[in-house]
Amino acid sequence: MKRILVTGGLGFIGSHTVVELQNEGFEVVIIDDLSNSTIGVLDKITEITGIQPAFHQIDLKNKKEVKKFFDTTTVDGIIHFAAFKAVGESMHKPLDYYENNLGSLVYLLQQMRDHKLDNFIFSSSCTVYGQADELPITEKAPVKTAESVYGNTKQIGEEIIKDTCKAYNLNSIALRYFNPIGAHPSVKIGELPIGVPQNLIPYVTQTAAGIRKELSVFGDDYDTKDGTAVRDYIHVVDLAKAHIAALQRLIKKNNTKSFEFFNVGTGKGSSVLEVIKAFEKITGKPLNYKIVGRREGDITAAFADTTNANKELNWKTEKSLEEALEAAWKWQQQNEI
Ligand code: UD1
Repeated sequence: MKRILVTGGLGFIGSHTVVELQNEGFEVVIIDDLSNSTIGVLDKITEITGIQPAFHQIDLKNKKEVKKFFDTTTVDGIIHFAAFKAVGESMHKPLDYYENNLGSLVYLLQQMRDHKLDNFIFSSSCTVYGQADELPITEKAPVKTAESVYGNTKQIGEEIIKDTCKAYNLNSIALRYFNPIGAHPSVKIGELPIGVPQNLIPYVTQTAAGIRKELSVFGDDYDTKDGTAVRDYIHVVDLAKAHIAALQRLIKKNNTKSFEFFNVGTGKGSSVLEVIKAFEKITGKPLNYKIVGRREGDITAAFADTTNANKELNWKTEKSLEEALEAAWKWQQQNEI
């Protein structure tokens, strides 16, 4: 049985990935510092799969603690989710973001080198493309100057991994996520936004639940089908499965380069108004929203060309936007957050 370390394994994407890893017969060890997650998620994972994953509360910025972990535990692969992810906050706290997102990455890679470990999956983002010149976005699209500190940590993170793979004979895959949404069909795990949500779907579900008065739609003057911005919303369970596919590729040594990256989306672009309409159909009632000005830093449209991920990872999405929205809504109703 292969043992996989999942950092940030109690977070939104991390917890769903732990479930899929266990479903596929992997043994999972979680490291999480609980800075943006709760320990209760561990029990929920156990309820879903019937298997309690090993858990270590470790802050990955603590180099000594990281070393201690790897001195006593050996793993066959690492999926590294642990990172700060709030775009706005990253602009006010750049050093916190660089220290947390890049310091921890370096310490992990150092331990992999020292303990001769291999197979590293990195959480990257479609934000590395900025507003791409061509749609859908292929992996050939150039990486553009990052608009946010958060985005820059993803770009620099990929560079660090690429150089490390070359120098120390490591193998890694970065997955460039589009917009992850939804929750587990069991409704036991999902996204737990702290405070006022910045992302569209949690704002939509909280508005429908009456927690927020009204959703602001940021701009209807974009050059898109209905004037609102277009994104590629992927169900978190589909996204979680892409990690297992990437891990299998590395374990089976099917990768063609020591560092590879793949777009992980559905390939379908949806506008904000389309999301609202689909959501209204699910709840059966109108959503309270108004059109306001554009949000600073937002791009017009982004959706993935998934040809490479489909072919090379032998993976494709199975769930629709409607299923993802329905799961997000069920999760909202159960949690009342
Ligand atoms: C954001 C981040 C991006 C990150 C991604 C996934 C920014 C600038 N970018 O992208 O780096 O990788 O989340 O977590 O924050 N919208 C509204 N009203 C709202 C909220 C959003 O109209 O209250 C619109 C936005 O303008 C956008 C779409 O909904 O067009 C999606 O927004 P969001 O969920 O924040 O994701 P991104 O902006 O794509």
